[in-house]
Amino acid sequence: MSADLKDMIARAAAVRENAHAPYSGFHVGACIRAASGRLYAGCNVENAAYPQGQCAEASAIGAMVSGGDGKIAEIVVMGEGERLCTPCGGCRQRLSEFAGPETPVHICDPEGLRQTIPLGELLPYSFGADNLEN
Ligand code: THU
Repeated sequence: MSADLKDMIARAAAVRENAHAPYSGFHVGACIRAASGRLYAGCNVENAAYPQGQCAEASAIGAMVSGGDGKIAEIVVMGEGERLCTPCGGCRQRLSEFAGPETPVHICDPEGLRQTIPLGELLPYSFGADNLEN
């Protein structure tokens, strides 16, 4: 495993501790490595008005864009439980705005890396900026 990936997993685990998830009890941390090499972390932030909650991936993307980066080289998503914590459908779309089909999505749990899946496998036939060019 690369040193970058080790760092990203540690950052995702740390930020996951800050998750605000009093409604689901499901804590998620994410860490993006931007093309610049900088790391951006985010956790899920739930809300009493349920639909206003935000996923960890969305928080990490917000931190990345706020930090002046715009290209995702790879991302770690850390959840918990027996099933893989793959990004939800909305977050697959959010990631595709800043990543390509080959971009590795590393699915982790607190024990470490479970599986790496390219974004294109998670979101085939994606809709993107190219679709708007007519
Ligand atoms: N959640 C994420 O933050 N990322 C995922 O990839 C899956 C789900 C959050 C949303 C919500 O706060 C909680 O997990 C339960 O769905």
